[in-house]
Amino acid sequence: MDVDGKVAVVTGAASGMGLAMARTFANAGMKVVLADIEETALDGAVNELSGDGHSVIGVRTDVSKLDEVQSLADATLKEFGAVHVLCNNAGVGIGAPVGNTSIADWKWTLDIDLWGPIYGVETFLPLIEEQGEGHINSTASMAGLYAGASLGAYNVAKHGVVALMASLERDLRWRESKVRASVLCPGPIDTQIVDSERNRDPNDAVNHIESEQGQKFWEFLTRTLANGMDPAEVGPMVLDAVLNEKFWILTHPEMGEIAVNQSRAMLEDQRLTR
Ligand code: NAI
Repeated sequence: MDVDGKVAVVTGAASGMGLAMARTFANAGMKVVLADIEETALDGAVNELSGDGHSVIGVRTDVSKLDEVQSLADATLKEFGAVHVLCNNAGVGIGAPVGNTSIADWKWTLDIDLWGPIYGVETFLPLIEEQGEGHINSTASMAGLYAGASLGAYNVAKHGVVALMASLERDLRWRESKVRASVLCPGPIDTQIVDSERNRDPNDAVNHIESEQGQKFWEFLTRTLANGMDPAEVGPMVLDAVLNEKFWILTHPEMGEIAVNQSRAMLEDQRLTR
């Protein structure tokens, strides 16, 4: 698909990988709608891109609310008259083992990380199909391919996102649609994800169940991500998938082995790998 002059919507576009996608799309000649819950950061991102002469708008959106995702679509059509590419990228995470995850934490994580992409697909797919071609990408994670310890709610959400996008791509092929789907499964990227709760209602966040395992894991993850890949490297990977109709986008393909080993062990002796 040729993207020059086309319209892209990116959620979670005020920071990290979403901002990198917005910059990459704008530099490729696309008009970009940046959506994020964090208004000040969103304004900063929009000012940066419009200051560089790009055609962009910002729409404050909470992706966990269907009516706000629908308003995002309305604002996109009002400003640019069409939409061709959607990136369901907004996401959050917390470290907690299953059994130490409060119901509030399950709901918060799944509402944003899984229902956000579902609302995005349901709302934008018919609008993109109207254009005769287009692309929907969602950001999952390596946690969508391998469910490690201390990240239960996040693993469940991200496995759901992988399943959502694979189902969508196969449904689109079945009806010979020219719209394509893809899924981004990043490894460690140096973003603000470890500070996800900055956008959370403090009344909701007090429902945490304290867990030493979860805290230790989060400290480990914080150190790992600080040494992770620059998010600027990820934008071009997503653009490449749009241009060349790739489904899987793995920022660290070598980490995919963990999922391969798990599948092999499943078939060989039905045990779960560590
Ligand atoms: P980030 O925290 O830098 O960016 C996430 C953006 O999403 C922020 O601007 C935040 O304000 C926004 N956001 C949060 N809740 C929202 C909501 N309800 N509605 C709209 N926007 C909301 O983090 P990062 O890493 O760039 O996150 C992007 C995606 O990448 C997420 O889906 C995350 O789960 C995923 N991911 C990140 C990895 C990493 O190592 N950083 C690894 C694997 C996946």
